[in-house]
Amino acid sequence: MNKQIVLTGITTTGTPHLGNYVGAIRPAIEASRDPKVLPFYFLADYHALIKCQEPKRIRQSTLEIAATWLALGLDTDNAVFYRQSDIPEVTELAWILSCVTAKGLMNRAHAYKAAVAENLEKGEQDPDKGITMGLYSYPILMAADILLFKAQKVPVGKDQIQHLEMARDIAARFNHLYGEHFVLPEAMIREETAVLKGLDGRKMSKSYDNTIPIFAPEQTLRKLIMKIKTNSLPPEAPKDPDTCTLFSIYQAFASAEEVEQMRRRYQEGIAWGEMKQFLFDYLNAHFREARERYEGLLQHPEEIERKLQAGAAKARAFAVPFMREIRRAVGIAPLAEGAR
Ligand code: TRP
Repeated sequence: MNKQIVLTGITTTGTPHLGNYVGAIRPAIEASRDPKVLPFYFLADYHALIKCQEPKRIRQSTLEIAATWLALGLDTDNAVFYRQSDIPEVTELAWILSCVTAKGLMNRAHAYKAAVAENLEKGEQDPDKGITMGLYSYPILMAADILLFKAQKVPVGKDQIQHLEMARDIAARFNHLYGEHFVLPEAMIREETAVLKGLDGRKMSKSYDNTIPIFAPEQTLRKLIMKIKTNSLPPEAPKDPDTCTLFSIYQAFASAEEVEQMRRRYQEGIAWGEMKQFLFDYLNAHFREARERYEGLLQHPEEIERKLQAGAAKARAFAVPFMREIRRAVGIAPLAEGAR
Protein backbone atom coordinates (compact mmCIF):
# COMPACT_ATOMS: atom_id res chain seq x y z
CA MET A 1 0.00 0.00 0.00
CA ASN A 2 1.28 3.42 -0.91
CA LYS A 3 0.89 5.77 2.01
CA GLN A 4 -0.10 9.36 1.48
CA ILE A 5 2.72 11.73 2.32
CA VAL A 6 1.57 14.51 4.63
CA LEU A 7 4.16 17.10 5.61
CA THR A 8 4.13 20.14 7.81
CA GLY A 9 6.63 22.39 9.54
CA ILE A 10 6.51 24.18 12.87
CA THR A 11 8.51 27.39 13.12
CA THR A 12 10.58 27.30 16.29
CA THR A 13 9.77 30.62 17.85
CA GLY A 14 7.67 30.76 21.00
CA THR A 15 6.01 28.25 23.30
CA PRO A 16 3.15 26.08 21.99
CA HIS A 17 -0.26 27.18 23.30
CA LEU A 18 -3.76 25.72 23.41
CA GLY A 19 -4.63 27.34 20.08
CA ASN A 20 -1.70 25.54 18.42
CA TYR A 21 -2.78 22.36 20.13
CA VAL A 22 -6.37 22.42 18.93
CA GLY A 23 -5.65 23.82 15.48
CA ALA A 24 -2.51 21.96 14.49
CA ILE A 25 -0.88 19.62 17.00
CA ARG A 26 -3.86 17.47 17.95
CA PRO A 27 -4.95 16.74 14.35
CA ALA A 28 -1.34 16.10 13.33
CA ILE A 29 -0.82 13.63 16.16
CA GLU A 30 -4.07 11.87 15.27
CA ALA A 31 -2.88 11.59 11.68
CA SER A 32 0.42 10.16 12.91
CA ARG A 33 -1.50 7.07 14.05
CA ASP A 34 -3.24 6.58 10.71
CA PRO A 35 -1.63 3.66 8.87
CA LYS A 36 -2.67 5.15 5.51
CA VAL A 37 -0.58 8.26 6.14
CA LEU A 38 3.16 8.76 6.17
CA PRO A 39 3.62 12.03 8.06
CA PHE A 40 6.72 14.20 7.93
CA TYR A 41 6.66 16.70 10.79
CA PHE A 42 9.63 18.94 11.32
CA LEU A 43 10.94 21.80 13.40
CA ALA A 44 11.50 24.63 10.96
CA ASP A 45 14.47 26.18 12.72
CA TYR A 46 15.92 27.79 9.59
CA HIS A 47 12.57 29.49 9.10
CA ALA A 48 12.74 30.69 12.69
CA LEU A 49 15.97 32.57 11.91
CA ILE A 50 13.99 34.84 9.61
CA LYS A 51 11.89 36.24 12.43
CA CYS A 52 14.13 35.80 15.41
CA GLN A 53 17.76 36.69 15.96
CA GLU A 54 17.97 35.60 19.56
CA PRO A 55 19.91 32.31 19.65
CA LYS A 56 18.69 31.42 23.13
CA ARG A 57 15.07 31.78 22.14
CA ILE A 58 15.50 29.64 19.04
CA ARG A 59 17.16 26.90 21.08
CA GLN A 60 14.63 27.03 23.90
CA SER A 61 11.70 27.03 21.52
CA THR A 62 13.11 24.09 19.57
CA LEU A 63 13.45 22.17 22.81
CA GLU A 64 9.94 23.07 24.01
CA ILE A 65 8.23 22.31 20.73
CA ALA A 66 9.96 18.95 20.32
CA ALA A 67 9.16 18.03 23.94
CA THR A 68 5.54 19.11 23.45
CA TRP A 69 4.95 16.90 20.42
CA LEU A 70 6.62 13.92 22.03
CA ALA A 71 4.83 14.35 25.35
CA LEU A 72 1.47 14.58 23.60
CA GLY A 73 1.98 11.18 22.07
CA LEU A 74 3.31 11.69 18.56
CA ASP A 75 3.84 8.24 17.07
CA THR A 76 7.45 8.47 15.94
CA ASP A 77 7.41 4.90 14.65
CA ASN A 78 5.09 6.00 11.87
CA ALA A 79 5.79 9.74 11.67
CA VAL A 80 9.15 11.07 10.56
CA PHE A 81 9.87 13.75 13.16
CA TYR A 82 13.00 15.81 12.52
CA ARG A 83 14.70 19.17 12.61
CA GLN A 84 15.01 21.03 9.33
CA SER A 85 18.63 22.01 9.96
CA ASP A 86 19.62 18.33 10.31
CA ILE A 87 18.75 17.81 6.66
CA PRO A 88 21.37 19.73 4.65
CA GLU A 89 19.59 18.65 1.45
CA VAL A 90 16.83 21.16 2.30
CA THR A 91 19.06 24.20 1.94
CA GLU A 92 20.84 22.64 -0.99
CA LEU A 93 17.54 22.20 -2.79
CA ALA A 94 16.49 25.73 -1.81
CA TRP A 95 19.41 27.08 -3.84
CA ILE A 96 18.60 25.00 -6.90
CA LEU A 97 14.98 26.12 -6.65
CA SER A 98 16.11 29.75 -6.30
CA CYS A 99 17.65 29.40 -9.73
CA VAL A 100 14.33 28.56 -11.36
CA THR A 101 12.14 30.91 -9.31
CA ALA A 102 11.09 34.17 -10.89
CA LYS A 103 12.01 37.16 -8.78
CA GLY A 104 8.64 38.61 -9.69
CA LEU A 105 6.94 35.68 -7.98
CA MET A 106 8.73 36.51 -4.72
CA ASN A 107 7.82 40.20 -5.11
CA ARG A 108 4.21 39.12 -4.73
CA ALA A 109 4.65 37.18 -1.48
CA HIS A 110 2.30 38.50 1.25
CA ALA A 111 4.93 38.59 4.00
CA TYR A 112 7.32 40.59 1.86
CA LYS A 113 4.60 42.92 0.56
CA ALA A 114 3.39 43.57 4.10
CA ALA A 115 6.91 44.52 5.19
CA VAL A 116 7.25 46.93 2.26
CA ALA A 117 3.81 48.42 2.94
CA GLU A 118 4.80 49.01 6.54
CA ASN A 119 7.96 50.84 5.47
CA LEU A 120 6.01 53.05 3.09
CA GLU A 121 3.44 53.81 5.74
CA LYS A 122 6.21 54.92 8.07
CA GLY A 123 7.49 57.22 5.33
CA GLU A 124 10.80 55.38 4.89
CA GLN A 125 12.91 56.39 1.89
CA ASP A 126 13.85 52.80 1.17
CA PRO A 127 10.84 50.48 0.80
CA ASP A 128 13.09 47.48 1.50
CA LYS A 129 14.48 48.88 4.73
CA GLY A 130 15.23 46.15 7.26
CA ILE A 131 14.01 43.38 4.96
CA THR A 132 16.43 40.47 4.74
CA MET A 133 16.94 38.08 1.85
CA GLY A 134 15.75 35.40 4.27
CA LEU A 135 12.33 36.99 4.53
CA TYR A 136 12.28 37.63 0.81
CA SER A 137 13.08 34.04 -0.16
CA TYR A 138 11.13 32.42 2.66
CA PRO A 139 8.70 30.77 0.20
CA ILE A 140 11.61 29.10 -1.62
CA LEU A 141 12.93 27.49 1.55
CA MET A 142 9.40 26.34 2.32
CA ALA A 143 9.04 24.92 -1.20
CA ALA A 144 12.28 22.99 -0.66
CA ASP A 145 10.92 21.53 2.62
CA ILE A 146 7.87 20.27 0.81
CA LEU A 147 9.25 19.19 -2.56
CA LEU A 148 12.23 17.32 -1.13
CA PHE A 149 9.88 14.73 0.37
CA LYS A 150 7.36 14.62 -2.48
CA ALA A 151 4.65 15.67 -0.05
CA GLN A 152 1.13 15.31 -1.42
CA LYS A 153 -0.77 17.07 1.36
CA VAL A 154 0.42 19.98 3.46
CA PRO A 155 -1.73 20.92 6.47
CA VAL A 156 -1.37 24.65 7.07
CA GLY A 157 -3.24 27.68 8.31
CA LYS A 158 -4.93 30.03 5.85
CA ASP A 159 -1.99 32.43 5.95
CA GLN A 160 0.14 29.80 4.23
CA ILE A 161 -2.05 29.15 1.17
CA GLN A 162 -0.01 31.49 -0.99
CA HIS A 163 3.20 29.72 -0.02
CA LEU A 164 1.72 26.43 -1.17
CA GLU A 165 0.73 27.96 -4.48
CA MET A 166 4.26 29.22 -4.87
CA ALA A 167 5.67 25.78 -4.11
CA ARG A 168 3.48 24.36 -6.87
CA ASP A 169 4.57 27.08 -9.28
CA ILE A 170 8.22 26.45 -8.53
CA ALA A 171 7.82 22.68 -8.85
CA ALA A 172 6.00 23.03 -12.16
CA ARG A 173 8.68 25.35 -13.49
CA PHE A 174 11.42 22.91 -12.53
CA ASN A 175 9.54 19.95 -14.02
CA HIS A 176 9.02 21.89 -17.22
CA LEU A 177 12.73 22.63 -17.51
CA TYR A 178 14.22 19.36 -16.30
CA GLY A 179 11.53 16.65 -16.44
CA GLU A 180 8.94 15.36 -13.99
CA HIS A 181 10.87 15.15 -10.75
CA PHE A 182 8.66 16.94 -8.24
CA VAL A 183 5.17 16.14 -7.01
CA LEU A 184 2.87 19.16 -6.90
CA PRO A 185 1.71 19.49 -3.29
CA GLU A 186 -1.80 20.42 -2.16
CA ALA A 187 -2.67 22.56 0.84
CA MET A 188 -4.94 21.06 3.48
CA ILE A 189 -6.48 24.12 5.04
CA ARG A 190 -7.26 23.86 8.70
CA GLU A 191 -10.91 24.23 9.59
CA GLU A 192 -12.13 27.51 10.98
CA THR A 193 -13.95 25.66 13.76
CA ALA A 194 -10.55 24.84 15.15
CA VAL A 195 -9.85 28.49 15.99
CA LEU A 196 -9.63 28.85 19.74
CA LYS A 197 -10.34 32.09 21.58
CA GLY A 198 -7.65 33.63 23.77
CA LEU A 199 -7.73 35.38 27.14
CA ASP A 200 -9.24 38.56 25.70
CA GLY A 201 -11.81 36.82 23.49
CA ARG A 202 -9.90 37.37 20.25
CA LYS A 203 -8.34 34.44 18.39
CA MET A 204 -5.66 32.85 20.58
CA SER A 205 -2.42 34.00 19.00
CA LYS A 206 1.09 34.84 20.05
CA SER A 207 0.79 38.19 18.29
CA TYR A 208 -2.12 39.22 20.58
CA ASP A 209 -0.29 38.07 23.70
CA ASN A 210 -3.46 36.30 24.85
CA THR A 211 -2.33 32.68 24.90
CA ILE A 212 -2.45 29.83 27.39
CA PRO A 213 0.65 27.62 27.04
CA ILE A 214 -0.27 23.94 26.75
CA PHE A 215 2.00 22.97 29.61
CA ALA A 216 1.76 26.01 31.84
CA PRO A 217 2.49 24.91 35.42
CA GLU A 218 -0.67 24.43 37.49
CA GLN A 219 -0.41 27.80 39.26
CA THR A 220 0.09 29.67 36.01
CA LEU A 221 -2.74 27.80 34.32
CA ARG A 222 -5.08 28.76 37.14
CA LYS A 223 -4.01 32.42 37.00
CA LEU A 224 -4.47 32.59 33.24
CA ILE A 225 -7.92 31.03 33.30
CA MET A 226 -9.00 33.42 36.07
CA LYS A 227 -7.90 36.28 33.78
CA ILE A 228 -10.17 35.25 30.87
CA LYS A 229 -12.51 38.09 29.99
CA THR A 230 -16.23 37.59 30.63
CA ASN A 231 -19.20 39.96 30.72
CA SER A 232 -20.53 41.31 34.02
CA LEU A 233 -23.76 39.36 34.32
CA PRO A 234 -24.58 38.39 37.93
CA PRO A 235 -24.08 34.74 38.99
CA GLU A 236 -27.70 33.63 38.66
CA ALA A 237 -28.40 35.25 35.26
CA PRO A 238 -28.78 32.94 32.24
CA LYS A 239 -25.73 33.25 29.96
CA ASP A 240 -25.02 32.80 26.28
CA PRO A 241 -22.48 30.00 25.80
CA ASP A 242 -21.83 30.83 22.16
CA THR A 243 -20.27 34.21 22.83
CA CYS A 244 -18.33 33.00 25.87
CA THR A 245 -14.60 32.41 25.72
CA LEU A 246 -14.63 29.97 28.63
CA PHE A 247 -17.27 27.89 26.90
CA SER A 248 -15.46 27.95 23.58
CA ILE A 249 -12.29 26.63 25.18
CA TYR A 250 -14.22 23.93 27.04
CA GLN A 251 -15.94 22.95 23.82
CA ALA A 252 -12.60 22.28 22.13
CA PHE A 253 -11.88 19.53 24.67
CA ALA A 254 -15.15 18.18 26.02
CA SER A 255 -17.34 15.44 24.52
CA ALA A 256 -20.63 16.34 22.77
CA GLU A 257 -22.51 15.17 25.84
CA GLU A 258 -20.44 17.24 28.24
CA VAL A 259 -20.93 20.26 26.01
CA GLU A 260 -24.72 19.78 26.04
CA GLN A 261 -24.75 19.55 29.82
CA MET A 262 -22.73 22.72 30.07
CA ARG A 263 -25.12 24.51 27.71
CA ARG A 264 -27.89 23.73 30.17
CA ARG A 265 -25.87 25.08 33.08
CA TYR A 266 -25.38 28.31 31.15
CA GLN A 267 -29.13 28.62 30.59
CA GLU A 268 -29.78 28.04 34.28
CA GLY A 269 -27.14 30.61 35.18
CA ILE A 270 -23.65 29.54 36.16
CA ALA A 271 -21.41 31.97 38.05
CA TRP A 272 -18.29 33.03 36.16
CA GLY A 273 -16.11 32.13 39.13
CA GLU A 274 -17.55 28.64 39.17
CA MET A 275 -17.11 28.15 35.43
CA LYS A 276 -13.51 29.33 35.63
CA GLN A 277 -12.73 26.93 38.44
CA PHE A 278 -14.44 24.15 36.49
CA LEU A 279 -12.46 24.89 33.32
CA PHE A 280 -9.21 25.01 35.26
CA ASP A 281 -9.88 21.62 36.88
CA TYR A 282 -10.87 20.18 33.54
CA LEU A 283 -7.80 21.33 31.60
CA ASN A 284 -5.50 20.58 34.48
CA ALA A 285 -6.71 16.98 34.55
CA HIS A 286 -6.73 16.74 30.77
CA PHE A 287 -3.05 17.63 30.43
CA ARG A 288 -1.69 16.31 33.73
CA GLU A 289 -0.03 13.15 32.44
CA ALA A 290 1.31 14.74 29.30
CA ARG A 291 2.65 17.62 31.38
CA GLU A 292 4.57 15.20 33.56
CA ARG A 293 6.07 13.60 30.47
CA TYR A 294 6.87 17.08 29.12
CA GLU A 295 8.66 18.15 32.27
CA GLY A 296 10.57 14.87 32.29
CA LEU A 297 11.69 15.41 28.71
CA LEU A 298 12.85 18.96 29.42
CA GLN A 299 15.06 17.49 32.13
CA HIS A 300 16.54 15.11 29.54
CA PRO A 301 17.21 16.99 26.33
CA GLU A 302 19.52 14.16 25.24
CA GLU A 303 16.46 11.92 24.92
CA ILE A 304 14.79 14.46 22.65
CA GLU A 305 17.98 14.80 20.66
CA ARG A 306 18.14 11.05 20.19
CA LYS A 307 14.59 11.01 18.78
CA LEU A 308 15.38 13.88 16.44
CA GLN A 309 18.52 12.18 15.18
CA ALA A 310 16.57 9.00 14.51
CA GLY A 311 14.01 11.11 12.62
CA ALA A 312 16.73 12.85 10.64
CA ALA A 313 18.18 9.48 9.61
CA LYS A 314 14.77 8.39 8.32
CA ALA A 315 14.28 11.70 6.50
CA ARG A 316 17.70 11.58 4.91
CA ALA A 317 17.06 8.07 3.64
CA PHE A 318 14.60 9.84 1.31
CA ALA A 319 16.40 13.11 0.87
CA VAL A 320 19.92 11.96 -0.04
CA PRO A 321 19.06 9.77 -3.04
CA PHE A 322 16.41 12.22 -4.26
CA MET A 323 18.86 15.12 -4.09
CA ARG A 324 21.33 13.08 -6.11
CA GLU A 325 18.61 12.69 -8.75
CA ILE A 326 17.86 16.42 -8.69
CA ARG A 327 21.50 17.44 -8.95
CA ARG A 328 21.97 15.12 -11.87
CA ALA A 329 18.82 16.49 -13.52
CA VAL A 330 20.31 19.99 -13.55
CA GLY A 331 23.72 18.79 -14.77
CA ILE A 332 25.64 18.57 -11.52
CA ALA A 333 27.12 15.08 -11.33
CA PRO A 334 30.50 13.38 -11.04
CA LEU A 335 32.31 13.82 -14.37
CA ALA A 336 33.35 10.19 -14.62
CA GLU A 337 29.70 9.24 -14.97
CA GLY A 338 29.67 11.19 -18.22
CA ALA A 339 26.27 11.79 -19.77
CA ARG A 340 24.65 8.75 -18.24
N1 TRP B 1 5.83 28.69 7.17
C1 TRP B 1 5.12 27.79 8.03
C2 TRP B 1 4.40 28.58 9.11
O1 TRP B 1 4.82 29.66 9.47
C3 TRP B 1 6.06 26.79 8.66
C4 TRP B 1 6.66 25.94 7.62
C5 TRP B 1 7.96 25.97 7.18
C6 TRP B 1 6.00 24.96 6.86
N2 TRP B 1 8.14 25.05 6.21
C7 TRP B 1 6.97 24.42 5.99
C8 TRP B 1 4.67 24.51 6.83
C9 TRP B 1 6.63 23.43 5.07
C10 TRP B 1 4.35 23.52 5.92
C11 TRP B 1 5.31 22.99 5.04
O2 TRP B 1 3.42 28.11 9.62
